[in-house]
Amino acid sequence: MGSRTESMSIGKPAVVVFCIVSVFCAPPQGAVRDGEVVVFKHGKIAGDPAPFNRLLDEFEARNPGIAVRDEILPASTDEQHQFYVVNLEGKSSDFDVLSMDVIWVPEFARAGWLADLTELVGPEEREDFFPGPMKAVTYGGKIWAVPWYIDAGVLYYRKDLLEKYGFSPPRLWSELVSTAQSIRRREPGIYGFIWQGKQYEGLVCNVLEYFWSNGGDVLRGGEVVIASRENIAALEFMRALIAEHGVTPPLVLTAIEEPTRHLFGGGKALFMRNWPYALNIFEQEGSPVRGKVGVAPLPSFPGGESASTLGGWQLGLNRYAKNPDAGRKLIRFLTRPGSQKILALTLGYKPTRRSLYADEELRAAQPFITGLYDVFMAARPRPVTPYYLMITQVMQPEFSAAVSGIKTAAEALGSARRQIEHILKVEE
Ligand code: GLC
Repeated sequence: MGSRTESMSIGKPAVVVFCIVSVFCAPPQGAVRDGEVVVFKHGKIAGDPAPFNRLLDEFEARNPGIAVRDEILPASTDEQHQFYVVNLEGKSSDFDVLSMDVIWVPEFARAGWLADLTELVGPEEREDFFPGPMKAVTYGGKIWAVPWYIDAGVLYYRKDLLEKYGFSPPRLWSELVSTAQSIRRREPGIYGFIWQGKQYEGLVCNVLEYFWSNGGDVLRGGEVVIASRENIAALEFMRALIAEHGVTPPLVLTAIEEPTRHLFGGGKALFMRNWPYALNIFEQEGSPVRGKVGVAPLPSFPGGESASTLGGWQLGLNRYAKNPDAGRKLIRFLTRPGSQKILALTLGYKPTRRSLYADEELRAAQPFITGLYDVFMAARPRPVTPYYLMITQVMQPEFSAAVSGIKTAAEALGSARRQIEHILKVEE
């Protein structure tokens, strides 16, 4: 229904307005008199929200008596996390269904903020979901959320420009640098390589890909190995991309996903690290880079292997939900194969159900999806622990200080190691 509105809300005001409207005025189109309203919180949709709204309309049409009110949070995962911690800690029942980043589920489950959804996911389905997100939603032997769409870091490149100057997509980070330098000499108006370098969760996703592709890690068998030689070299390289090689503009130090997507989509960069959703937007009619973009696995250091951070979003049910039954129905509906396929075709959100990667219509519309299957199978999770948010709150400022040149990589990682060791000692 055309009346579905986008609301940006953090906290109660939007909900209060909604209640006043329902009590004193005629129900808005779509809300049901004497029916149930299921409140669904999720991050801002990248791109055109119309197909997503149509999906919610379809749910309502199939479930007479249930209306969905979707309430939109900011795009950044950190801001969304903050909203949930405050509201769920306060036992808020203002929302029923919530979209959760893959890194939050163990924390929320342990805190007792989520309803148990084990019954909602049958044993066969558990096999069909990618193993990474499935592991992330399982805590204490129970399932606390249903994987909705999956993410993994990939390298976008300008196919047309690489072809024009006789280059292939780089397999090594050093090749990315030399390719970017060489093409920029001849195409001076273009940035070489853009990524997400602001102090936030996305920076951690980026940095880990350099660590892993140099054989490094954060934790290994309970030991904090973040200050390893491999990680120091990897982080120094990221700083050098900006400060020495001149291929990454300093603007990345304040950039999250969407600003980098806009730059690349405007034809202003040769390479970009981002999640898979961006390609759909680049291929839309009127896009300046339509037909000119390739997607490849991220490069590695010599002797290392390409590595992508596992990302993605899961649907959970607030333990204090007012309408848990309607909430469960909405979660089932949005995560069913048909809805995941629509979201893949229209928004580029990649399905968490592996069987969809054999779907002919999807493969015909998005041939690169076949290649992404392997990337998703191999994607590396950030540490899966209820304490992840504490660990990342240590990593974010340290990584940011290193890529901005405020600290050396060795100083930043040494400091991160000491703080993470302290967290693990206290929380064990
Ligand atoms: C994407 C990923 C999510 C990650 C975030 C970082 O939304 O799906 O897992 O934490 O980006 O910005």
